[in-house]
Amino acid sequence: MLQVDQLRKRYDRTDAKAFAVQEVSFNVKLGEFFTLLGPSGCGKTTTLRSIAGLEMPDEGEIRIGEDTVFSSVRGIAVPVNRRNIAMVFQSYAIWPHMTVGQNVAFPLEAMGVPTAEAARRIERALEMVGLAAFRDRPAPMLSGGQQQRVALARAFVKEARVLLLDEPLSNLDAKLREQMRVELRDLQRRVGTTAIYVTHDQEEAMSLSDRVAVMNEGRIVELAPPRALYLRPRTRFAAQFVGQADLLDCTRVGSEGNAWIVDTPLGRLRTADCSDAEAGASKTSLLIRPEHIELRASPENGLNEVAGVIERLVFSGRIVEYIIRAGDRLVRVQGTSREIFEAGRQVVMSLPPEHCVVVTD
Ligand SMILES: Nc1ncnc2c1ncn2[C@@H]1O[C@H](COP(=O)(O)OP(=O)(O)OP(=O)(O)O)[C@@H](O)[C@H]1O
Ligand SMILES: [Mg+2]
Repeated sequence: MLQVDQLRKRYDRTDAKAFAVQEVSFNVKLGEFFTLLGPSGCGKTTTLRSIAGLEMPDEGEIRIGEDTVFSSVRGIAVPVNRRNIAMVFQSYAIWPHMTVGQNVAFPLEAMGVPTAEAARRIERALEMVGLAAFRDRPAPMLSGGQQQRVALARAFVKEARVLLLDEPLSNLDAKLREQMRVELRDLQRRVGTTAIYVTHDQEEAMSLSDRVAVMNEGRIVELAPPRALYLRPRTRFAAQFVGQADLLDCTRVGSEGNAWIVDTPLGRLRTADCSDAEAGASKTSLLIRPEHIELRASPENGLNEVAGVIERLVFSGRIVEYIIRAGDRLVRVQGTSREIFEAGRQVVMSLPPEHCVVVTD
């Protein structure tokens, strides 16, 4: 549905290396929810605005469906209004001097949609976001979440092929954000729109997306479905960006089937399946997430078991966060309230091999 190929964009003409986006390539399938995730300034908005036609890339090619809407080589740059896309911005920019209905009607008027059809589409869009009853209300007399829904309805009403969303939930408070997250996903599924979503919030990316592209310094460093990204990241950057991560320097000393045997500051450990690890990677680290470490009172089989002492713990109800000293290393472990180990106690940390993931720099 959408193909982005070798996109490059530099704002600062005076600095040859100052690329906002470089060599960014990805494909998005019809009906897919695709997310660009990354820290501030990594080039997410630039990529999205390039797709929309609001920004002119220096190099690359962008195709929407069968149409090439941008190509530096072929000199194609289709204007915004002919790209058949809808966009929701971070500041949702609804028009304060209009009613809810007029806000949603606006793009259709601009497109010259006949009145009867427009009325039908407006009704359906407002219905979809649960605002049918608010149609004649002045737009400013709505809560933040409702205003956000007006912005979504205004985007959906265009029935565009691709929906672009740039941090559309970031202006909402935490609770509303979570609720809108679920609604947005439902809505996108029901309508079947292809969505490109931009966020720096990893939880939002995980819970909404079919696939996530992790960006850093203008490049995509990793692209995968949420679970694979979290459980089997390939890069150090993605491992740390999508969740808590303790990374251990590791050196491969052997293998067992597809698993590696590695030496780490916590001793010799067996890793998860490494058959698709990059051969000859420069530097490797071992990722183990705090919630994957199991605490035991005593050793069971010696496999991937590391002795330690509880240095401190924070009990917060559902979870218990431990800091555990093993030799001169401190390890974070997330436990549950099912069994609580007190500070000062000797424990054994069991690091399940399937959760010991080798990542590269
Ligand atoms: N109009 C502009 N002029 C010059 N530099 C720009 C412009 N817009 C963005 N940049 C620079 O390009 C880089 C990428 O910016 P971009 O807005 O794409 O980042 P982002 O990932 O959307 O960040 P954020 O999460 O903060 O919105 C940044 O270094 C930014 O300073
Ligand atoms: Mg941005």
